[in-house]
Amino acid sequence: MKKEFPNGFLWGGATSAAQLEGGFDKGGRGLSHLDYLKHIPLAERNGRSLMQITEEEYLENKAKACQTNLAFRRGNDFYHHYKEDIRLFGEMGFKTFRMSIAWSRLFPTGMEKEPVKEGVEFYHQIFRECHKYNIEPLVTMIHYDIPAVLTETVNGWEDPVVIDYFLNYTKFLIDEYKQEVKYWLTFNEINMICWSPYLGGGLFVEKSKRTRLSCIHQALHHQFIASALTVKYAHDTAPGILIGNMTQRSQTYPLTCKPEDVFLTQKSDQFNLFFNDVMVFGEYPYFIKKYYEEQNITLDYIDNYEAILKAGTVDFISFSYYFTSVITSEPGKVEPFENFVKQQKNPYLQASDWGWTIDPMGLRIALNELYDRYHLPCFITENGLGAFDQLEDNGSIHDRYRINYLREHIEAMRAAIDDGVELMGYTPWGCIDLVSMGDVQMSKRYGFIYVDADDFGQGTYRRYKKDSFDWYKKVIASNGRDLD
Ligand code: BG6
Repeated sequence: MKKEFPNGFLWGGATSAAQLEGGFDKGGRGLSHLDYLKHIPLAERNGRSLMQITEEEYLENKAKACQTNLAFRRGNDFYHHYKEDIRLFGEMGFKTFRMSIAWSRLFPTGMEKEPVKEGVEFYHQIFRECHKYNIEPLVTMIHYDIPAVLTETVNGWEDPVVIDYFLNYTKFLIDEYKQEVKYWLTFNEINMICWSPYLGGGLFVEKSKRTRLSCIHQALHHQFIASALTVKYAHDTAPGILIGNMTQRSQTYPLTCKPEDVFLTQKSDQFNLFFNDVMVFGEYPYFIKKYYEEQNITLDYIDNYEAILKAGTVDFISFSYYFTSVITSEPGKVEPFENFVKQQKNPYLQASDWGWTIDPMGLRIALNELYDRYHLPCFITENGLGAFDQLEDNGSIHDRYRINYLREHIEAMRAAIDDGVELMGYTPWGCIDLVSMGDVQMSKRYGFIYVDADDFGQGTYRRYKKDSFDWYKKVIASNGRDLD
């Protein structure tokens, strides 16, 4: 008999405040560093990442604040639509809704002692709406967005003072919302800072006195400390709540069975696991110490950091899963990078319109690997297919490609459960269309619900159900048995 999804499995959907809310100038909210990222059409980008800007570009965007391509300021306007949106989540049967709180909606500069009342009430209202439909909120305390003032004045997470500001914020969250929120995550994709230091840490690396890698890993060290102290506070003051970590998981395969390829794959994998190791085991693993030595990375460790990390380990591990990667040791194809090597194409896999490989089997592998290493319940807090959707004249959207993608990944999850993995829940990304992080645009869509808005803020912002809406409703109602 094959094992099925457990009773009480947390089916739902995932979002983040910056990509969803809009209302950047409402209710006393301060600006976040994401409010300065702008959409640039693919053809005009010259291959550059939109998630990484220099201080110069930041100041330029600040001077011209009314640009229509600053899409995070608008999100999908959940700020004005949240009642309707949560009702639709309820109609699909969501058991949980992953969202994040915008730090700058409560503490506009990050440095205030007391929060803005309107912001505090906004999130109470959201939680009330969720509970009306028996939806448990799953709250990420920081989904990248840090108050812009902290980026400007102290170079984001590079300065240890941000740990204190963050703790003031997270202790407030726990005290204020612990009756309404049982499931929490500290940092979204804490490993992303290594690939996009501006995005993940609010860092202008070129401004730092440290080398690029030392700057990144110093900021990461501060995030680990901030997370551990938050987890400890939650455990001490709010028994009953569960608090997890969150990393981006990309399974890595060797291009060939050549031992050198396999070894490089192991190194790359270790680098990915490092973030979980610190948050689950409460210590820096041996291989990362070696890596620091090799790369001349020097850190100013926070006093007593070893005890702090040990005392604040998480209750479950969560991760996003979109694609897998391939690496080789072949000369010329190897390029040292923060995750050690350059990625290659996988000839066995199809890819999305954005080139992200589609690999359900990789999800089963990831679940087994993570559960085997950590023996903690797993939660897939992001997964999904970003695609161009077509809104028909009669208001329908036929997204069979998305249904196929999700079905195959849910089948892989069920197989992993049958392998013996303990899986708590699944929240596909962007359950309602929102602004894409990597492309700062609306037209890369993930949702079960279509939002009528384009990349430059034009549109009615009306919501429409896609075909995947009714399909996912059926999946949830049958607890993952009916995937047709
Ligand atoms: C994850 C992030 O990396 O991927 C989300 O946590 C992001 O914020 C998601 O939106 C999908 O990426 P993108 O670039 O398609 O929005």
